[in-house]
Amino acid sequence: MLYRKPVPFFTVVFAFVALLAGNAHADTAAPHLANVTILATGGTIAGSGSTSTTTIGYTAATVGVNSLIQAVPELNKVAHVTGEQVFQIASENMNNEYWLTLGKRVNELLARPDVDGIVITHGTDTLEETAYFLDLVVKSHKPVVLVGAMRPSTALSADGPINLYNAVLLAASHEAVGQGVLVAMNDQIHAARDVSKTNTSTPDTFKTTELGMLGYIQGNHPYFYHRAMRKHTADTEFDISKLQSLPQVDIVYGYANMGPAALNAFVAGGAKGIIHAGVGDGSLANKVKPALVAARKQGVLIVRASRVGQGIVARNGEANDDELDFVAADTLNPQKARILLMLALTRTSDSKEIQRIFYTY
Ligand code: DGL
Repeated sequence: MLYRKPVPFFTVVFAFVALLAGNAHADTAAPHLANVTILATGGTIAGSGSTSTTTIGYTAATVGVNSLIQAVPELNKVAHVTGEQVFQIASENMNNEYWLTLGKRVNELLARPDVDGIVITHGTDTLEETAYFLDLVVKSHKPVVLVGAMRPSTALSADGPINLYNAVLLAASHEAVGQGVLVAMNDQIHAARDVSKTNTSTPDTFKTTELGMLGYIQGNHPYFYHRAMRKHTADTEFDISKLQSLPQVDIVYGYANMGPAALNAFVAGGAKGIIHAGVGDGSLANKVKPALVAARKQGVLIVRASRVGQGIVARNGEANDDELDFVAADTLNPQKARILLMLALTRTSDSKEIQRIFYTY
C-alpha cells in the first residue's frame, strides 16, 4: 500500500472553509433560469395607436419582437429569453399556411434540449384557434403559452407588458409542464381547448365560461387548480411535419330562416368537411337538411356543432346521426370543431373514426 503523509491540520480546515464558501456562493448564485423562446406573430400586443388613449382604431402588428422584449426588462428575472418574428399579422388574417409554419417551428424548437418553453404573442381575434391547433399538433410536454393584449402597446394601462411577463413566467415554470397548450391573459391560465374570446374589447375577454379555467398567475407564481381532461400535445395522433396544406373545412352558421345557399357554395368550392353551427343543440332546419344529406352523399364530412357556445352537442340528439352518418361536435365550438375536423381528415375520412376523434380531443 502506498505510504501517505498525514495532511496538515490547517490544510483540512482551509479546505473545509473553502468548501462552505463555495457552497455559500452557489446558494447566492442566480437561480437556474429556464430558456424561453418568444415567437411573435403580430396582433394588438404588437400594436400602436396615435395617442395614449387610443384603445380602438389603432394599428395591430407594428411592433417587432425585440421591442416587445426590451419593453419588459423584468422578463430577464424569470427566464433566459430569446425572440423570433415568425410573421407579423393582425390575427383576423390567420390561415392554415401560417398555422403549419408556426406548428412546425414550435416542434423544431421544443425538440432542442436548450429550449424549455415557448411563448407565442398573437392577436386575440383568433388566438383561441391557434392555441387549439397547437394543442393538437405540438409533440412535446414542454410549456407552450399563447398571449395577447386588448390594448395597444401605446395605450394607458396597456395590458400587453404584464400579460407577456406572466406568459414567460408560466412558460418557464415546472407547473406548466404537461398541461397542454395554455392561454395566459388577465392573470388567468386557460386550456387551449375550452377558452374563448367573449368580449370585443375588454381586457378580461378570455373566459372558459362553464368548463373552467385552469388557474391563476399571482405574485410571480402560477397556481393550477384543474387539468385539461382531453388528449393533447405529446399524446396527439396528428403529425404535421410532412403536411404542406390542410383539407378545406368551412362553417355554416345557423339562424332563423336559413337556407342551403351558403352550404351549397362551400361544397361547390371544394369543402371536404362542413361544420354546421346549428341553433340550440345543433338543430337542422328542414330547408337545409336535404342539402346536408346531399353533401354527405358526395363524401363531404358533416359535423353537427352549435352556435350556442356552451354545452354538449349530443350524438343522435337533435338529428339521427347514425342514420345521416354525421358527427357530433361534443363541446367544441364551431371554430375549434373546424380545426379538429381538418386534422382528422388528414388521417381518415371514416365518420365513425372521426367521431372517436371528437370524443378524444
Ligand atoms: N386585429 C386584432 C387581432 O390582431 C386585434 C385584436 C387583438 O390583437 O387584441 O387579433
